[in-house]
Amino acid sequence: MGNRAHWSGRLAFILAAAGSAIGLGNIWKFPYITGINGGGAFVLIYLACIALVGLPILIAEIYIGQKGQSNAVASFEKLHKKNTFWAAPGYMGLLAAILILSFYSVVGGWVLDFGYRAFTFQFEGKSAAVISDMLGGLFSDPSRMAISHTIFMALTIGIVVGGIKNGLERWTKILMPALMVLLAILFVKSMSLDGFGKAVDFLFAPDFSKLSPASILEAVGHSFFTLSLGMGAMLTYGSYLDEKEDLVKTGLMVAFLDTFIALVAGLVIFSIVFSFDLEPGSGPGLMFATLPGLFVQLPGGNFMAIMFFLLVTFAALSSAVSILEVAVTYFSETKGISRNKMAVIAGGVIYVMGYFPLFSFNKLSDVKILGKNFFDLFDVIASNYLLPIGGLLIAMFIGWVLGKDAVKDIVKKDGFATTGLLWLLRVVAPLAVFIILLNKVIG
Ligand code: TRP
Repeated sequence: MGNRAHWSGRLAFILAAAGSAIGLGNIWKFPYITGINGGGAFVLIYLACIALVGLPILIAEIYIGQKGQSNAVASFEKLHKKNTFWAAPGYMGLLAAILILSFYSVVGGWVLDFGYRAFTFQFEGKSAAVISDMLGGLFSDPSRMAISHTIFMALTIGIVVGGIKNGLERWTKILMPALMVLLAILFVKSMSLDGFGKAVDFLFAPDFSKLSPASILEAVGHSFFTLSLGMGAMLTYGSYLDEKEDLVKTGLMVAFLDTFIALVAGLVIFSIVFSFDLEPGSGPGLMFATLPGLFVQLPGGNFMAIMFFLLVTFAALSSAVSILEVAVTYFSETKGISRNKMAVIAGGVIYVMGYFPLFSFNKLSDVKILGKNFFDLFDVIASNYLLPIGGLLIAMFIGWVLGKDAVKDIVKKDGFATTGLLWLLRVVAPLAVFIILLNKVIG
């Protein structure tokens, strides 16, 4: 495997992994599903899932790639044996990649579309209600949505073709910190809004009467989604990591950054929601209906709006790339098709699939499967089922099949941390996922 490309070092890997984790999941999805699921109690479950389930599995998944130095299927085989059942997360991951990236690209397109509106000063002097209507206008215009979905997917394919190191690494170093600075500015501004206190209550004062089995499952699913877990993305990135990195520190860092950004984005967005009397549970359009309303109030707000949508586009691209990369690495290594060709083929298939979620806002809005439109269906199947089940298998593979030796190899010494991680992977993480899935299925 000496000819595989590698990250230039530890920092590059952390940035890439954080780049994969931090994306639309933090800034768009976390606030909107928190709104739908009633706030605090949902957030609490989500935080517990990150700490007890997500973080251990994140470390385990990166380790499998780092040791296997191969794609999301072959790495399991190398660590265990050929055709092992334990490679199942790799195969499920390919399906999850298609489902997730197809709707992710549509939302990435909305970000591009709103960025363009900011660039052409269309938010200037508009009220929150008018901005909300712009979003409705976009949803009812499939050809306009198609333009930005096409651009987003083309950019994703372009970056994968350009190679991880040259394209992605260079830009993440600059743009991820820039995103954090901009969020910090927005956060400070949101503290002065009337709705800030209510936003804090909404996010951090749990009301358990609002929790249903479905919302608990959503919290688990989201902890996988936001950390890019359970489908081989972190595994694939880990496979481009050569040295014996300290995966515990790396994992902690990535999980912390990811959670922090989500909470800050949530506070900003809900401060606006409660200040302008918007609806917290309004769904996937929440970020788009709220943020431009804050921008127009700020001095230099239009410039900030342009920057914001640009930086979110970038965060979304650095995540989208990691999803496409799973399929590209797998097919190019096993079927002998070149990476570039595979990026175009896989990206093309996913692009076409994207028209199902895209049309679910307009042409196909009446089509419901299991009570859900295509947009929600793709998300729920992938995020709430495929990712958690993939993660459960990854945890058990390290915890039981490779066992204590592997965990010692991760932690680098025997002791409390090793025992702790071992039992999180053996029992806590799998059991949590299992019980929640069961509870949802029978509940
Ligand atoms: N974590 C990313 C986000 O929050 C999305 C993402 C990237 C992802 N790679 C993934 C989700 C792999 C699931 C699996 O936006």
